[in-house]
Amino acid sequence: MPATGTRRFDRRHTLPVLSAEEAAARIPNGALVGFSGFTAAGAAKAVPRALAERAKALHAAGDPFRLRVLAGASAGEQIDQVLAEADVIAWRAPFQSAKALRGRINRQECEFVDMHLSHLPNMIEAGFFGDLDVAVVEAVDVTSDGRVYLSTSSGATPSFLRHAKQVIVEVNRYHSKRLWEMHDVAILSPPPHRHPIPINRPLDKLGTPFAAVDPDRIVGVVETNEPDGMPAFSASDEAGLAIGEHIVAFLVEEMRAGRIPREFLPLQAGVGNISNAVMAGLGAHDEVPPFVMYTEVLQDSQIELMRAGKLRGASTSALALSDACMRRVYEDMDFFAPRIVLRPQELANNPEVVRRLGVIGINTVLEMDIYGMANSTHLCGTQLMNGIGGSGDFTRNCYLSILVAPSVAKQGAISTVVPMVSHVDHTEHDVQVLVTEQGLADLRGLGPMERARTIIDTCAHPSYRDLLHGYLGASRMGHFRHDLSECFALHRRLLETGSMLPQ
Ligand code: COA
Repeated sequence: MPATGTRRFDRRHTLPVLSAEEAAARIPNGALVGFSGFTAAGAAKAVPRALAERAKALHAAGDPFRLRVLAGASAGEQIDQVLAEADVIAWRAPFQSAKALRGRINRQECEFVDMHLSHLPNMIEAGFFGDLDVAVVEAVDVTSDGRVYLSTSSGATPSFLRHAKQVIVEVNRYHSKRLWEMHDVAILSPPPHRHPIPINRPLDKLGTPFAAVDPDRIVGVVETNEPDGMPAFSASDEAGLAIGEHIVAFLVEEMRAGRIPREFLPLQAGVGNISNAVMAGLGAHDEVPPFVMYTEVLQDSQIELMRAGKLRGASTSALALSDACMRRVYEDMDFFAPRIVLRPQELANNPEVVRRLGVIGINTVLEMDIYGMANSTHLCGTQLMNGIGGSGDFTRNCYLSILVAPSVAKQGAISTVVPMVSHVDHTEHDVQVLVTEQGLADLRGLGPMERARTIIDTCAHPSYRDLLHGYLGASRMGHFRHDLSECFALHRRLLETGSMLPQ
């Protein structure tokens, strides 16, 4: 398709308006490309789809075409799923959640670097991944002096814009132009010239409402008009609701005991139905005052709480909202814009700020062990699920770190409480509270044996408790008890028979 016109800013900066296909043609084989997007929120849309088509044609002709791909986190179907299906992604960081990409990673057809999300902007600034060849960035507007007004996420996009040698801007007409009122863009100075981050309350702002780019690096603008297409999360199941109830009861008790102040503390909650259940439970509880969030993604349930006056405001890196919910936000920006701050992930997930604010973090894991180590990422130690995401940024630094999982998966064939996790993402030093639908284990102040007994009796499913106690009793004594030849017996049995339970 030919170029569709020009976008005139001033005499010096008349940018070509490119079709998505023309923009995709500017990206060479082997390039390191930074796409905007933190989940599907604010993800580049038209250019990645065109890249997939280009790759298919090139591959059919026997020509190579693969890219090294960065985004803030996972990044929407058109980037992780469609590009993976077209075999475009040779290397990916720092997170993903797409079936096709996961399959390629687990078949070792694609390298994946699983990272704490807060680390990414700094690593780009420092050049740890080499030169960033291209940034493909969604915006609601771009000006002649290089102000890029971002759309529904911030993520690592400001750093992509600062460092990419070539920049393609997808200007998406669908989004509200007023999104700039939420954005707070800042890139931290490199060490040793870094100062304390002046965020003393969750909604404090320190930067600009736009990201900056050298306009000479913009090779073209692609006009789009489409929503993020974020899937709505399914309603909480029974286990999720029970986990939510345990957490709400615990937090209320902590407040009564004076360990959480009467005005409450900021909350962080991972994506998914368990955190939705917790939010709904807190929202409905009379004793919990209206609270704020310091988190990395905002979901539909939190918008509803905000509307109801129970959530006073939120700092986030992305508006991971269904299209219908996003519309409601756009229709009432007078209400929502002052209550939401959209930050780059280095600030949204920043350890210094999380520790200062005393955030209470709630994140879901795949499995936990009897001492409190947790695995968020790898099934049976080998098969990547999604990645650590922001869970480590928060879990290590929170005032209270709560990790949750249903006690069993696959209709009881898998216990999520195991003697030793098959992959460690969170250590026992970082975790204060573990929760399953069976109960809540408060690990604060407990030594290893007390922890083990509490976790087994409180969190493990009854059908696995004897097995876990048996393991503990038969293991080698020390500060911890472990039997290095048996610690993965449940995982081994799962791989051999399809169930962790003895046949
Ligand atoms: N062993 C094997 N499979 C397991 C398992 C285990 N210990 N625990 C869960 N599973 C399976 C489930 O059965 C399910 O399988 P299915 O898709 O075939 O039905 C799948 O893994 C996902 O489990 P589910 O309970 O639906 O997960 P979820 O959507 O609540 O996600 C995580 C759980 C851990 C994958 C997800 O929270 C995650 O990626 N966390 C890391 C990132 C993070 O915490 N980000 C937070 C900051 S936003």
